[in-house]
Amino acid sequence: MQSLILPRDVIAWTGASLRFLDQTALPAEERLINTSDYRVVIEALRTLRLRGAPLIGVAAAYAAALAANEHLAETGTGFHTRLQTSLSEIASARPTAVNLFHAVDRMRGVAESYADPMQCATAMERTAAGMHEAEAQRCIAMGEAGAVLLPDEGGVVTICNTGALATGGIGTALGVIATAVRAGKRLHVYACETRPLLQGARLTMWELARLGIPATLIVDGAVPELLRRGEVRAAIAGADRIACNGDTANKIGTCAVALAAHDAGIPFYIAAPVSTIDFTAPDGGAIPIELRGPDEVRTLAGIPVAAAGCEVWNPAFDVTPHRLISAIITDCGVLTAPLMAGISRLRA
Ligand code: MRU
Repeated sequence: MQSLILPRDVIAWTGASLRFLDQTALPAEERLINTSDYRVVIEALRTLRLRGAPLIGVAAAYAAALAANEHLAETGTGFHTRLQTSLSEIASARPTAVNLFHAVDRMRGVAESYADPMQCATAMERTAAGMHEAEAQRCIAMGEAGAVLLPDEGGVVTICNTGALATGGIGTALGVIATAVRAGKRLHVYACETRPLLQGARLTMWELARLGIPATLIVDGAVPELLRRGEVRAAIAGADRIACNGDTANKIGTCAVALAAHDAGIPFYIAAPVSTIDFTAPDGGAIPIELRGPDEVRTLAGIPVAAAGCEVWNPAFDVTPHRLISAIITDCGVLTAPLMAGISRLRA
């Protein structure tokens, strides 16, 4: 089977449908889904077939375009009424990645600008494609801005998956690493497996192998011991939502990496596009944290690994306080302390 490694293979608009890679099947299978039903995209977002904050935003925009195409069959005001309902359904797919809400708001704006259904559907398609392209460009800008911060050689620890699979571009944190390696830095990536859904083990290790970047998989709890040994020179992660003071929500386990980095005296970087900043959230306390079902923790690849029916608490994300973040690498440059000042400059 042909190996899918290009960002355009992660998600693509075919003209009348959306084709995307089912990330739950990786690394065993490179399975493509092709749909013209926006409900299939919502299901894919909920089940993490499509995931990663920037990609969630792009997928939501394309889902809105699919909904507009579907509702063209409506007469009178039916098109706009049905479209608004669909946009609300799309917005309910997942709660933490703010990119989803930015995308739906943008598409709602487009919907409100066109009375004519056909013109509206065409504009929504064009806008979704433009948002996809913009995220890819943001990844390149983050890579260029952040690569200089990474050491010339040595270990770099990361968590979750922040590459092409999470963005549709070259990635956020993984894009920075890839850009640094392309610039000649001799880095070795330590990827946290990222319990419970193993985005690090299944997806990041898959991407790193295809990029030819040396990497070692570690269990999440190994980070402090790894850092104590002195081979790791930096830690870098992505973000699902950044508050105005720099507090950052990312995959559960990220705060533990930041604490370990702080204790070991190595820098901890966040790489995220401006589309991941929530200018309405004053601090991390305002960020909704997704709670997912107990079976994600009770089972591993469908096999029970916990006492049947045991109580589980399964937050999908945590908030890293801004004081633990050495810098936020954005597509508009690198923000350092005080992060709040840099973020408010971006808003202006
Ligand atoms: O639950 P997921 O897999 O969607 O979580 C993804 C992450 O936490 C990523 O680190 C984050 O979206 C940044 S991706 C570029």
